[in-house]
Amino acid sequence: MVVPKRWCLALVLLAATLGACDKKPRPFTLVQIKWGHAVYVERCESCHKRGLVGGEHASPLIGDKFWANWEGQSARKLYGRIISTMPANDPGLVPSKDVIDVVGYILAQNGLAVGGQEILNPDELNPVSITRREPGA
Ligand code: HEC
Repeated sequence: MVVPKRWCLALVLLAATLGACDKKPRPFTLVQIKWGHAVYVERCESCHKRGLVGGEHASPLIGDKFWANWEGQSARKLYGRIISTMPANDPGLVPSKDVIDVVGYILAQNGLAVGGQEILNPDELNPVSITRREPGA
């Protein structure tokens, strides 16, 4: 089939747009990640340390140890672990909204693609899978 040149450009643009529609929006806004960092510093850093590297007893929340425990899990599960057991010395202290944001911060620090849709409800974390990002994705 011979297609006039100007149609080609239109078709390419249409394909690109449809491709973009296919992609799921990234979870968490950047404001949430920033707030999650503030919550972490206030409520978690005393034990888990700066940069999430872990302390004497508190597990690292970044790197190989994190991936060994959380790869393939849903972000909802990580949320559940934190809301029901953390801070270890006072579980339940941190409100749900702040725990959502701290989950976003932890995931961002581990290289997950974030910075799209605001997450307001823990159930919205069900479809968010904790998977390593492909290089370049
Ligand atoms: C008083 C110290 C302390 C504080 C504060 C604290 N944690 Fe922990 N955290 C621990 C300890 C100790 C463990 C490991 C033992 C356990 O599971 O209870 C742990 C384990 C965890 C785990 C499980 C890690 C894994 O891979 O299994 C997560 C996730 C976590 N903490 C997140 C947080 C977050 C987020 C906060 C802040 C809201 C926080 N913790 C505050 C001490 C603390």
